[in-house]
Amino acid sequence: MMTKTTASITAVAGYVPDYVLTNEELVKMVSTDANWIETRTGIKERRILKGEGLGTSDMAVIAIERLLKKRGITALDIDMIIVASVTPDLIFPSTSNIICDKIGATNAWGFDLAAACSGFVFALTTGTQFIETGKCKKVIVVGADKMSSILDYTDRSTCIIFGDGAGAVLLEPTTDGYGVIDSILGVDGSGRAHLHQKAGGSVKPPSHATIDAKEHFVYQEGQAVFKRAVVGMAEVSAEIMEKNNLTSEDVAWLVPHQANKRIIDATAERMGLSSEKVMLNIQKYGNTTAATIPLCLWDYEKQLKKGDNIILSTFGAGFTWGAVYVKWAYNS
Ligand code: UT7
Repeated sequence: MMTKTTASITAVAGYVPDYVLTNEELVKMVSTDANWIETRTGIKERRILKGEGLGTSDMAVIAIERLLKKRGITALDIDMIIVASVTPDLIFPSTSNIICDKIGATNAWGFDLAAACSGFVFALTTGTQFIETGKCKKVIVVGADKMSSILDYTDRSTCIIFGDGAGAVLLEPTTDGYGVIDSILGVDGSGRAHLHQKAGGSVKPPSHATIDAKEHFVYQEGQAVFKRAVVGMAEVSAEIMEKNNLTSEDVAWLVPHQANKRIIDATAERMGLSSEKVMLNIQKYGNTTAATIPLCLWDYEKQLKKGDNIILSTFGAGFTWGAVYVKWAYNS
């Protein structure tokens, strides 16, 4: 009998910068209200990467080094590193390249994947394919974003939401039925109108004019995104449960993208899950874009049990969305 090879998550680690930017501090920077931020988003504080010359790769490197240490392996054991980010160190070469160099992963190859808030879920699904086909034995999937590098701290509709951070998982093959079981992913490019960065790409390269017009920052029409996200994340999460015949009792944890507590609550409700089954760290990290989901896994790792059915779920810029069904592979 053939036994299917699946991609098992065998370790998780994360990194958030030390600097804590609280709602109270934001009130001094922009016309906002600490209570408004907390009640409308669930965010109390977020982390910011300070320091000249530090970028997304520096956070990812720390997360990956912690991951390797935990698993008792070295960078030389790694076959592939996929980096989900919309704030790469450079436009090119890829942040994956830079990370491989910094950690000494000389046997690895990799690339960056840009799917904004859905980046980790897209990258996890991509990494899974290389394990399932037998092409790779050890794949690192990292979600990392230095959102503070593209935020306008005079725009209260965006700067209050985002934070910096990195989270990483290690994928390894197993035939025991654990790991990534299924995924549903989607995109709708017409949604780009509501959430994007106007300049810096090939359509509008950087110029004095684009800088003066603040077009290198995140542009978001919050309400339009909220309306789609609140339905979209709930729908895709319910869909993956139905597709895999999972009832709400069968699901141990929802690992939702941390964009807004209200979106997370709506998703949990649609899935029939009580709040104890929902991973939440938006209050302390804000929206770290590609890093939210692996940072949740990192925070909650000790509570996860071997065999737990967990649903990772996301909706973000693009629009992009997705859900992944994972059978957790270990007790820590
Ligand atoms: O992860 C990537 C995908 N992104 C998302 O999923 C984000 C989705 N959107 C959201 O989470 C929410 O739309 C926001 C948190 C961005 C905004 O919350 P909202 O409840 O949609 O606010 P709103 O834009 O509808 O504004 C409501 C009111 C307005 O005042 P008036 O016109 O009712 O008097 C805004 O001017 O709240 C005001 N407002 C603020 N007040 C204090 C907007 N931003 C702020 C602020 N502080 N920071």
